[in-house]
Amino acid sequence: MAKDWENMGLKPHLSKQERMPRSYKEVEKILKDVKAFKGNLKTLLNNSRLRGPIFKKVYSLATNVLKYRLVLDKIIEETGLLKKETFLRQELAGILIYELIFGKGLPGESRPVTVVKQYEESIHKAYEKVKNDDSLVNKGLQCIPRYVRVNTLLTSLPDVLNKLRKAEYYEIRYEEGISINEYLDLVKNLETGSFMIDYHFKDLLVFSSNENLTTWSLFQKNHVYIQDKSSYIPVFALDPKPESVVIDACAAPGMKTIHIASLMENKGKIYAFEKSDNRFKILKKMLNDSCVEICEAECEDFYLVNTNNPKFQNLECILVDPTCSGSGMVNRLDTVTDTEDSKNVLRLQKLAGFQILLLKHALTFPSVKRVVYSTCSISEEENEYVVHEVLNHFRNMFKLVSVMPDWPFRGSDNYEFGKLCLRAHPEKTFTNGFFVAMFERLSYDEQQSVSLNNETFSNYGKSSKKKQRGKN
Ligand SMILES: C[S@@+](CC[C@H](N)C(=O)[O-])C[C@H]1O[C@@H](n2cnc3c(N)ncnc32)[C@H](O)[C@@H]1O
Repeated sequence: MAKDWENMGLKPHLSKQERMPRSYKEVEKILKDVKAFKGNLKTLLNNSRLRGPIFKKVYSLATNVLKYRLVLDKIIEETGLLKKETFLRQELAGILIYELIFGKGLPGESRPVTVVKQYEESIHKAYEKVKNDDSLVNKGLQCIPRYVRVNTLLTSLPDVLNKLRKAEYYEIRYEEGISINEYLDLVKNLETGSFMIDYHFKDLLVFSSNENLTTWSLFQKNHVYIQDKSSYIPVFALDPKPESVVIDACAAPGMKTIHIASLMENKGKIYAFEKSDNRFKILKKMLNDSCVEICEAECEDFYLVNTNNPKFQNLECILVDPTCSGSGMVNRLDTVTDTEDSKNVLRLQKLAGFQILLLKHALTFPSVKRVVYSTCSISEEENEYVVHEVLNHFRNMFKLVSVMPDWPFRGSDNYEFGKLCLRAHPEKTFTNGFFVAMFERLSYDEQQSVSLNNETFSNYGKSSKKKQRGKN
């Protein structure tokens, strides 16, 4: 007999135990949107209303489900779960199976959870069958280690190390003089529960890709950030000094602004610009939560910022980290599902055009000495080509300087200046794909010698069509 609430067309009131955790519902929605190419994971999350611990939880779970999606899909197929339980949806089934195998198990007694638990044995069996299949693991989203940057504005490396030891994390130590390849071998074999200090950056900790860091109180208190090693490099190259004046041209969500403030020891001035209203709110919150005290943040298009404003008269350096295709991000679903068509040339050309405008604008600030350009893209159009165009325009005033010369992976050989630029690559550097170039203002003598060279060229009637310059 139908219950009263059914007759009235109402849904039953479910107890907390019977409801599915909110984070699962949010992850399911985000995954559907990613698959529908509505944006990448980070953008969708930043544009959602999720904030605080639920944001971090959803981000971490969605990232992991994407990372293992081919394995999870195979398990769904092997167990016939969706055919037998037709009310279950693909994304939700993936989330629940991920939690069952890699997470902390399935909480509560909601219907999807109860049903998936009934298949626990066959799910584990299917996982044992597929877990060593490289074509699933490697062709899915790649596993790169998880990097944790210590927020020195709120704590110190020794303090974080102490807390990790107390939590029984084991530090894998290595000798100072080991080669980068020996180091990368150690990273490859990192297991959950252990960590290392990074080879290049001593306030960066390296954990296994399976480590769940978002539950740490250190993370929740903003004492540490999960930040890929590649995105640490632009600020390291920029080298902002305490008491200096710095611009972060494209700042939200603010990871690099916070890093800049840390290197400046919260002394001096950072002007941070962000064009999008929504992302500007996130930036403000991030800066506040991280105790950045020296940043004047404005919701403004950097391209429209007046370069002659007196407040920039002692400007030292600018970071230009603009919107890009994000093709270097290994946790983006579109890096493995993109069709050739969607990677179309037109889109990259449009992005490059906008990146060139912003970078050129940065180089027109009269007193700026250093400008770092970075993207999380692997396409030449958004990287070397942009640098080439800008360098051609400013060759009388700026030169390219080598970014971390001992870094093993450099810019494209198709450009004469390629080796001065730094590239990062999941398989080669165990990071996201990334690109960094650094412009430095020519000294007076260098400027003289460049204009002399130009004169000589024009006297001999030679055109300056040579494609690549900037070799130092
Ligand atoms: C790659 S993200 C920056 C990430 C940031 N640097 C960080 O490390 O957290 C690029 C940002 O630039 C912003 N942006 C795009 N065009 C801009 C413009 N013309 N002026 C200022 N910000 C812009 C985007 O809204 C986006 O938030």
